[in-house]
Amino acid sequence: MANRALCHRRSLQVSRQSAQKRSCTSISAASRFSAAKPVAADELGSGCSPDCCSQRMGYLKTQLPGVENYRGFHLFVSLTFLFFLLSLKLENKTKEKLQKQICQVVLDHFEKQYTTELGDTWTSIRDVLTHPLCWQYAVLLNKFSQSAELENTLHVKGYHPAFQGPLPYLPASLKCYIRRSPGRFPAQKHQAGKLKEYYLLNAASLLPVLALEVKDGEDVLDLCAAPGGKSVAILQCAYPGQFHCNEYDDLRSRWLKQTIESFIPDPLINLIKVSQLDGRQIGDLQPESYDKVLVDAPCSNDRSWLFSSDIQQATLRLIQRKELSSLQFQLLRSAIKALRPGGSLVYSTCTLSKAENSDVINLILNSCSNVMPVDISEMAKAVSQEFTFLGGTQQHEILVLPEKGRAWGPMYVAKLKKM
Ligand SMILES: C[S@@+](CC[C@H](N)C(=O)[O-])C[C@H]1O[C@@H](n2cnc3c(N)ncnc32)[C@H](O)[C@@H]1O
Repeated sequence: MANRALCHRRSLQVSRQSAQKRSCTSISAASRFSAAKPVAADELGSGCSPDCCSQRMGYLKTQLPGVENYRGFHLFVSLTFLFFLLSLKLENKTKEKLQKQICQVVLDHFEKQYTTELGDTWTSIRDVLTHPLCWQYAVLLNKFSQSAELENTLHVKGYHPAFQGPLPYLPASLKCYIRRSPGRFPAQKHQAGKLKEYYLLNAASLLPVLALEVKDGEDVLDLCAAPGGKSVAILQCAYPGQFHCNEYDDLRSRWLKQTIESFIPDPLINLIKVSQLDGRQIGDLQPESYDKVLVDAPCSNDRSWLFSSDIQQATLRLIQRKELSSLQFQLLRSAIKALRPGGSLVYSTCTLSKAENSDVINLILNSCSNVMPVDISEMAKAVSQEFTFLGGTQQHEILVLPEKGRAWGPMYVAKLKKM
């Protein structure tokens, strides 16, 4: 353990030093993980240097006396050199695919904030977040395109159901598979006229859906819905009376529509309303209209921000980060207005940031007298074998912490009820 921690500290020091020269530090995932097979230059036929090439030429000259007299020999040299350059390019391209760029400004910013908020726990979380090769992906089956063969394949590959045991809410139709080892099941390509069989996602993304407890016939609003993973998951659980999926961003709204089209069959698709409104206005536009509202809020997406490829954009995001809490608060207020009395809402984010999680919920609880917290600790207890949670949170909230072998989250979930 101590060695690993030291090793990690050293690797971070190295990244910091190189970050002084470059804005973003390249972390070679292949070189950091013994489990991962590094790109074998030999396999690509490119494991030689220019020195090695000239040695090969010398060898040829001695083996084929008089070969220099042939004009073809020059052609042979040029072609060999060209082959060497091409294979070098191929090797670099393959390496690039295994590399992800850690954005040092973001890492430094998180380092400061999360060390203060999470203490030593942050070190192990950082280990997971900065090493994509240890990330895990869950496979959510699409009940509208069932395949026994797929379930068999998943079993053979060592997958098991993510949710088992006595959960307060777990419809039999929601089937999600996970395995302890890192890696991703191959993604499915869109095929015209054919529904997709599964959706790849972070297993923690299903916790807000389970906490929402949607029942058949209920009117449901997914306030910030793109790309649509949770909308698809809600429809695996129940048949809502009215299902309204909203996404403000134009491009992402198109992505949402595509997801729905790829997973949901025709008769049901017609019952889904997709809108492109500012979620902050829906409460005034449709007051007391829904039994359940999901607010999967825009947030500092810790996992993806750490790999921002554009330093300017990353810096701007960090500056604007402070404004997110206010947007989240306004979205929540709108969601409360859109709820019928007796209805409930789930708020979720994929950040560890207290300012965007507990602080926003506490502010809502302190400023809206018509909402009360709902205990979700039973759900957390029932899934604690597969997920690691931050200790010391209140009963109406959970924070999933990524850990090696349980690399799910970050995911904050809180549940409120309108009186
Ligand atoms: C965390 S993502 C939602 C992910 C989605 N629920 C899923 O599971 O696939 C948050 C979404 O909120 C959208 N958004 C940002 N501001 C919004 C607003 N004012 N109203 C509605 N949606 C907004 C973002 O464009 C983004 O797509």
